[in-house]
This record gives sequence, structure tokens and C-alpha cells, in this order.
Amino acid sequence: MPKNALIKIDDKEISCPVMVGTEGEKAIDARNLRKDTGYIFYDQGYGNTGSCESAITFLDGDNGILRHRGYSIDQLAGQSEFVETAYLIIYGELPTMKQRKAFGDLLRQNAHVETQMQRLFDGYPKDTPPMVMLASLVASLAGYYPDLATNNFEKDLGQFDLSAAMAISKIRTLGAMIYRHTRGLPFLHPKDLPFCDNFLHLMFSEPYHDYVSIPEVTSALNLILLMHADHEQNCSSATVRMVGSSGVNLFTSLAAGIGALSGPLHGGANAAVMHMLQSIHDEHDDGTRFISAAKDGSKSHRLMGFGHAVYRNFDPRAKVIGEACGVVLKKLGKSDPLLDIAHNLEQAALKDDYFVSRKLYPNVDFYSGIIFRALGIPINMFTVMFALGRSPGWIANWREVASNPKGRIYRPRQIYVGPARRDYVPIAQRG
Ligand code: ACO
Repeated sequence: MPKNALIKIDDKEISCPVMVGTEGEKAIDARNLRKDTGYIFYDQGYGNTGSCESAITFLDGDNGILRHRGYSIDQLAGQSEFVETAYLIIYGELPTMKQRKAFGDLLRQNAHVETQMQRLFDGYPKDTPPMVMLASLVASLAGYYPDLATNNFEKDLGQFDLSAAMAISKIRTLGAMIYRHTRGLPFLHPKDLPFCDNFLHLMFSEPYHDYVSIPEVTSALNLILLMHADHEQNCSSATVRMVGSSGVNLFTSLAAGIGALSGPLHGGANAAVMHMLQSIHDEHDDGTRFISAAKDGSKSHRLMGFGHAVYRNFDPRAKVIGEACGVVLKKLGKSDPLLDIAHNLEQAALKDDYFVSRKLYPNVDFYSGIIFRALGIPINMFTVMFALGRSPGWIANWREVASNPKGRIYRPRQIYVGPARRDYVPIAQRG
């Protein structure tokens, strides 16, 4: 492996150190390029830019590999559960029995939402999109818990165990409250239950009829949250890092991540997939018409749940979730015509040269909506579920930024393409 890379601009050669990650990932350290040459690298969308060193998740998009802290997503999906994986992602190691219990206790102790904070819901119109509510509620945590959100990394890290558990636990409770608010249902108090069962209780219990835990539902929820727990420098995690790099607290950074996740090209895709499948179903299309429309290259006709910014082989999460879909529906004794449509679409696209040549495969969102639907979660809540699942990854990323003594504020450069210098013209002379 070369130690340096030479960049030649005109007659000048600049030597940039080569960096190599644990898994052999290679980078050219261009931190001094602008200082030494006046040039920057142009990389719209940062697809070729390493913005940080991170020890959380390894992703090899060409080979469909995803590992958290060294553990493969397949092993975690088969043997771990969401809270344990959350601990692993945040703290770097699988917990001991004692650590797992302490983490679970902290999550349980911080599940409630203060009465005063509950009043915020009165201000939202009934049809406020769930992700809009979630982003603003999570941002508000910084106001309700100012001691955990001082915007001083040293102080905030001193309370990190509490703020991390609080964030995950309250995002879970707030998510359920958002669901109930949109349906005009009264809020419920969290119970002394395991994480996923507590969520299902907060969502589905009725005043005189408690939700009765169904093991298959709990384990499907566990699986799907775990599958979303982290995903390297995706748009929302990079946003959390960027916002956090300004020195701001965990809750404010998470709120920014939630905003980034809500876009249709990121976390919003799972809802878009369901709308797409439903419209194919309603139009009695077997998928053929939709597939041919999706090939016109326009962003508005894309086959949702297909393609990924980094996976160019397959998305290992889609494989696990796709397989789980059929199993979950069978266990719950349900059938879903949209699952058949999804299978047909997948089969057709995987044989179609347009998708094959562009290396477009199902991503995590292609099948996750079918599981959410089987669990009784409505489409407008899908991205909230994604946010709950992704919260450990965001927290771990914020922590890396906050604990890096050499960290700098994220500040990309640009190539300016606007008007060249010109003189101000007073309004009376502008015609
Ligand atoms: N359907 C049809 N064509 C597609 C699709 C799709 N889903 N995705 C990409 N393409 C085409 C593009 O039109 C482009 O074609 P061209 O080379 O002829 O111009 C080519 O494939 C490459 O596409 P890019 O836009 O360069 O791919 P990029 O890596 O920038 O985008 C993205 C990735 C945003 C995920 C894209 O594939 C997409 O829009 N997919 C549908 C939305 C989706 O499922 N998003 C969820 C992603 S997973 C997540 O965030 C959790």
C-alpha cells in the first residue's frame, strides 16, 4: 500500500498521505490540499468524500456487507435484539448481563413524557405530519432537560448515559403519542415492560383493555428496529454529525437528523414504497406498467425501495427483512396482496437490463413497510419507526463528534457559479 499519493497540478506535485481503515478502506488525506495549492476536491453529494473517521459501522456497498462494531448484521439479526444492539452501537461492545440490565433500567426509568411537555401536542393541527411533530418534540427535549443540553461537550458528555437512554426511550414514547394524537386517542403511561412491548402498549392499549403481548409481533418489531439501528454516514447520520460539530447538544442534533430522515429519498422511502404498491394493486397492474414507467429516468417515477447510494450489489438488510416478511405474515396468520406485488416487482426488476446494468436492487425500505403494516402501524408512522430504530446510530455518531478532542466544525467548501463582482444599483435606477 503506498504511503502517499501524488497529485500533480500544472507542474506542481503535492504529496498527500494515504489513510487505510481497519477493513482496508483507502483514502487520500487531502486536508492540506487547499492550503498548499488553492484547489479543493469537487464532490457533489460527498459520495467520494470521507468526512470523518468512525469506529461504529463498516459498510462495503460493493459486496453487500454491513457490520456494527465488527458484528455482521446477519448475526445481530439472528441472535441479538434491538436494545442490546443499540447498546453495542452506542458503547462499542456487547453489554454484559449487568450492563444490559442497567441500560434497560435507564430506558424504563426515562420512558415517560412530562405533563408539561405533553401540552405541546395541543399546538399541533391534527394533520401535522408525524415526522414534523417528532423533530420539534425531540428538539424541545433540550428545553425540558437543560442540564443535559448545555452545548458544552464536556458537560453534556458527563451526562451522556442518561441523555442517550432518555433520547431512545422518549423517542419511542413520543412516537406512540404522535400516533395517538393523530387519531384523537388519549395518551397512555409507559409500563414496566421490555422496550418493544412497552411501545406496543403505548400505541395499542385501550383505556379498559390492555394490549396483550404477542411474541411474534414483539420479535418482528425487535428485528425491524434492529435492522435500522445504524447505517454509516447516511444523510441523517451525517446531518447529526454536522450539526453536532457546531458544539450543540445531543437532542438538537437528533432533531436535525430526524428532519433529514423525513425526506422521500431517505427515510420517507418506506412510506413511498407502500403508496407505490397500493397504487399498483388498485390499478390492477402486475407491476409491468410501473416498471416500464420507472425506466424513463425521471425522479418522480422511480421504483421506490430500489437502488441505494452505496449498495451496488445487494442491501443485506433488505435480504433479512424480505425473508422475515413472509415468516412474520405466516406467524400472524395474515396475508397481504402487496407482498405478492413486491415479490413480482423484485423478480421483474432483477431480470430487467435497466435495473441490472445500473446495479439497482431492493433496499431496506422495499419490504419493511409490509412488516410495519402487519404490525398495525399506519403508513404515516413508518418514518417515525425508522427514526426510533436509527436513534442509537445517531447517538453514537454524535458521541464520536463530541468526544473527539481534535474535532473541527464541519464546513465544506463550494465552487461559486453565481454572478461575478458587480456594482450595486440604487432601486430608482433599476427601471
Ligand atoms: N428507479 C428507477 N431508476 C433508478 C432508481 C429507481 N429506484 N434509482 C436510481 N435509478 C437510476 C437513475 O435514474 C440513474 O439512471 P441514469 O444513470 O440513466 O441517469 C441511475 O439509476 C443511478 O441513479 P442515481 O440517482 O445516481 O443513484 P443515487 O445513488 O444518487 O441514488 C437513491 C440513490 C436516491 C436511493 C435512488 O436509487 C432512489 O431514488 N431510489 C428510490 C428511493 C429509495 O428507495 N430511497 C431509499 C434509500 S435507502 C434509505 O435511505 C434508507
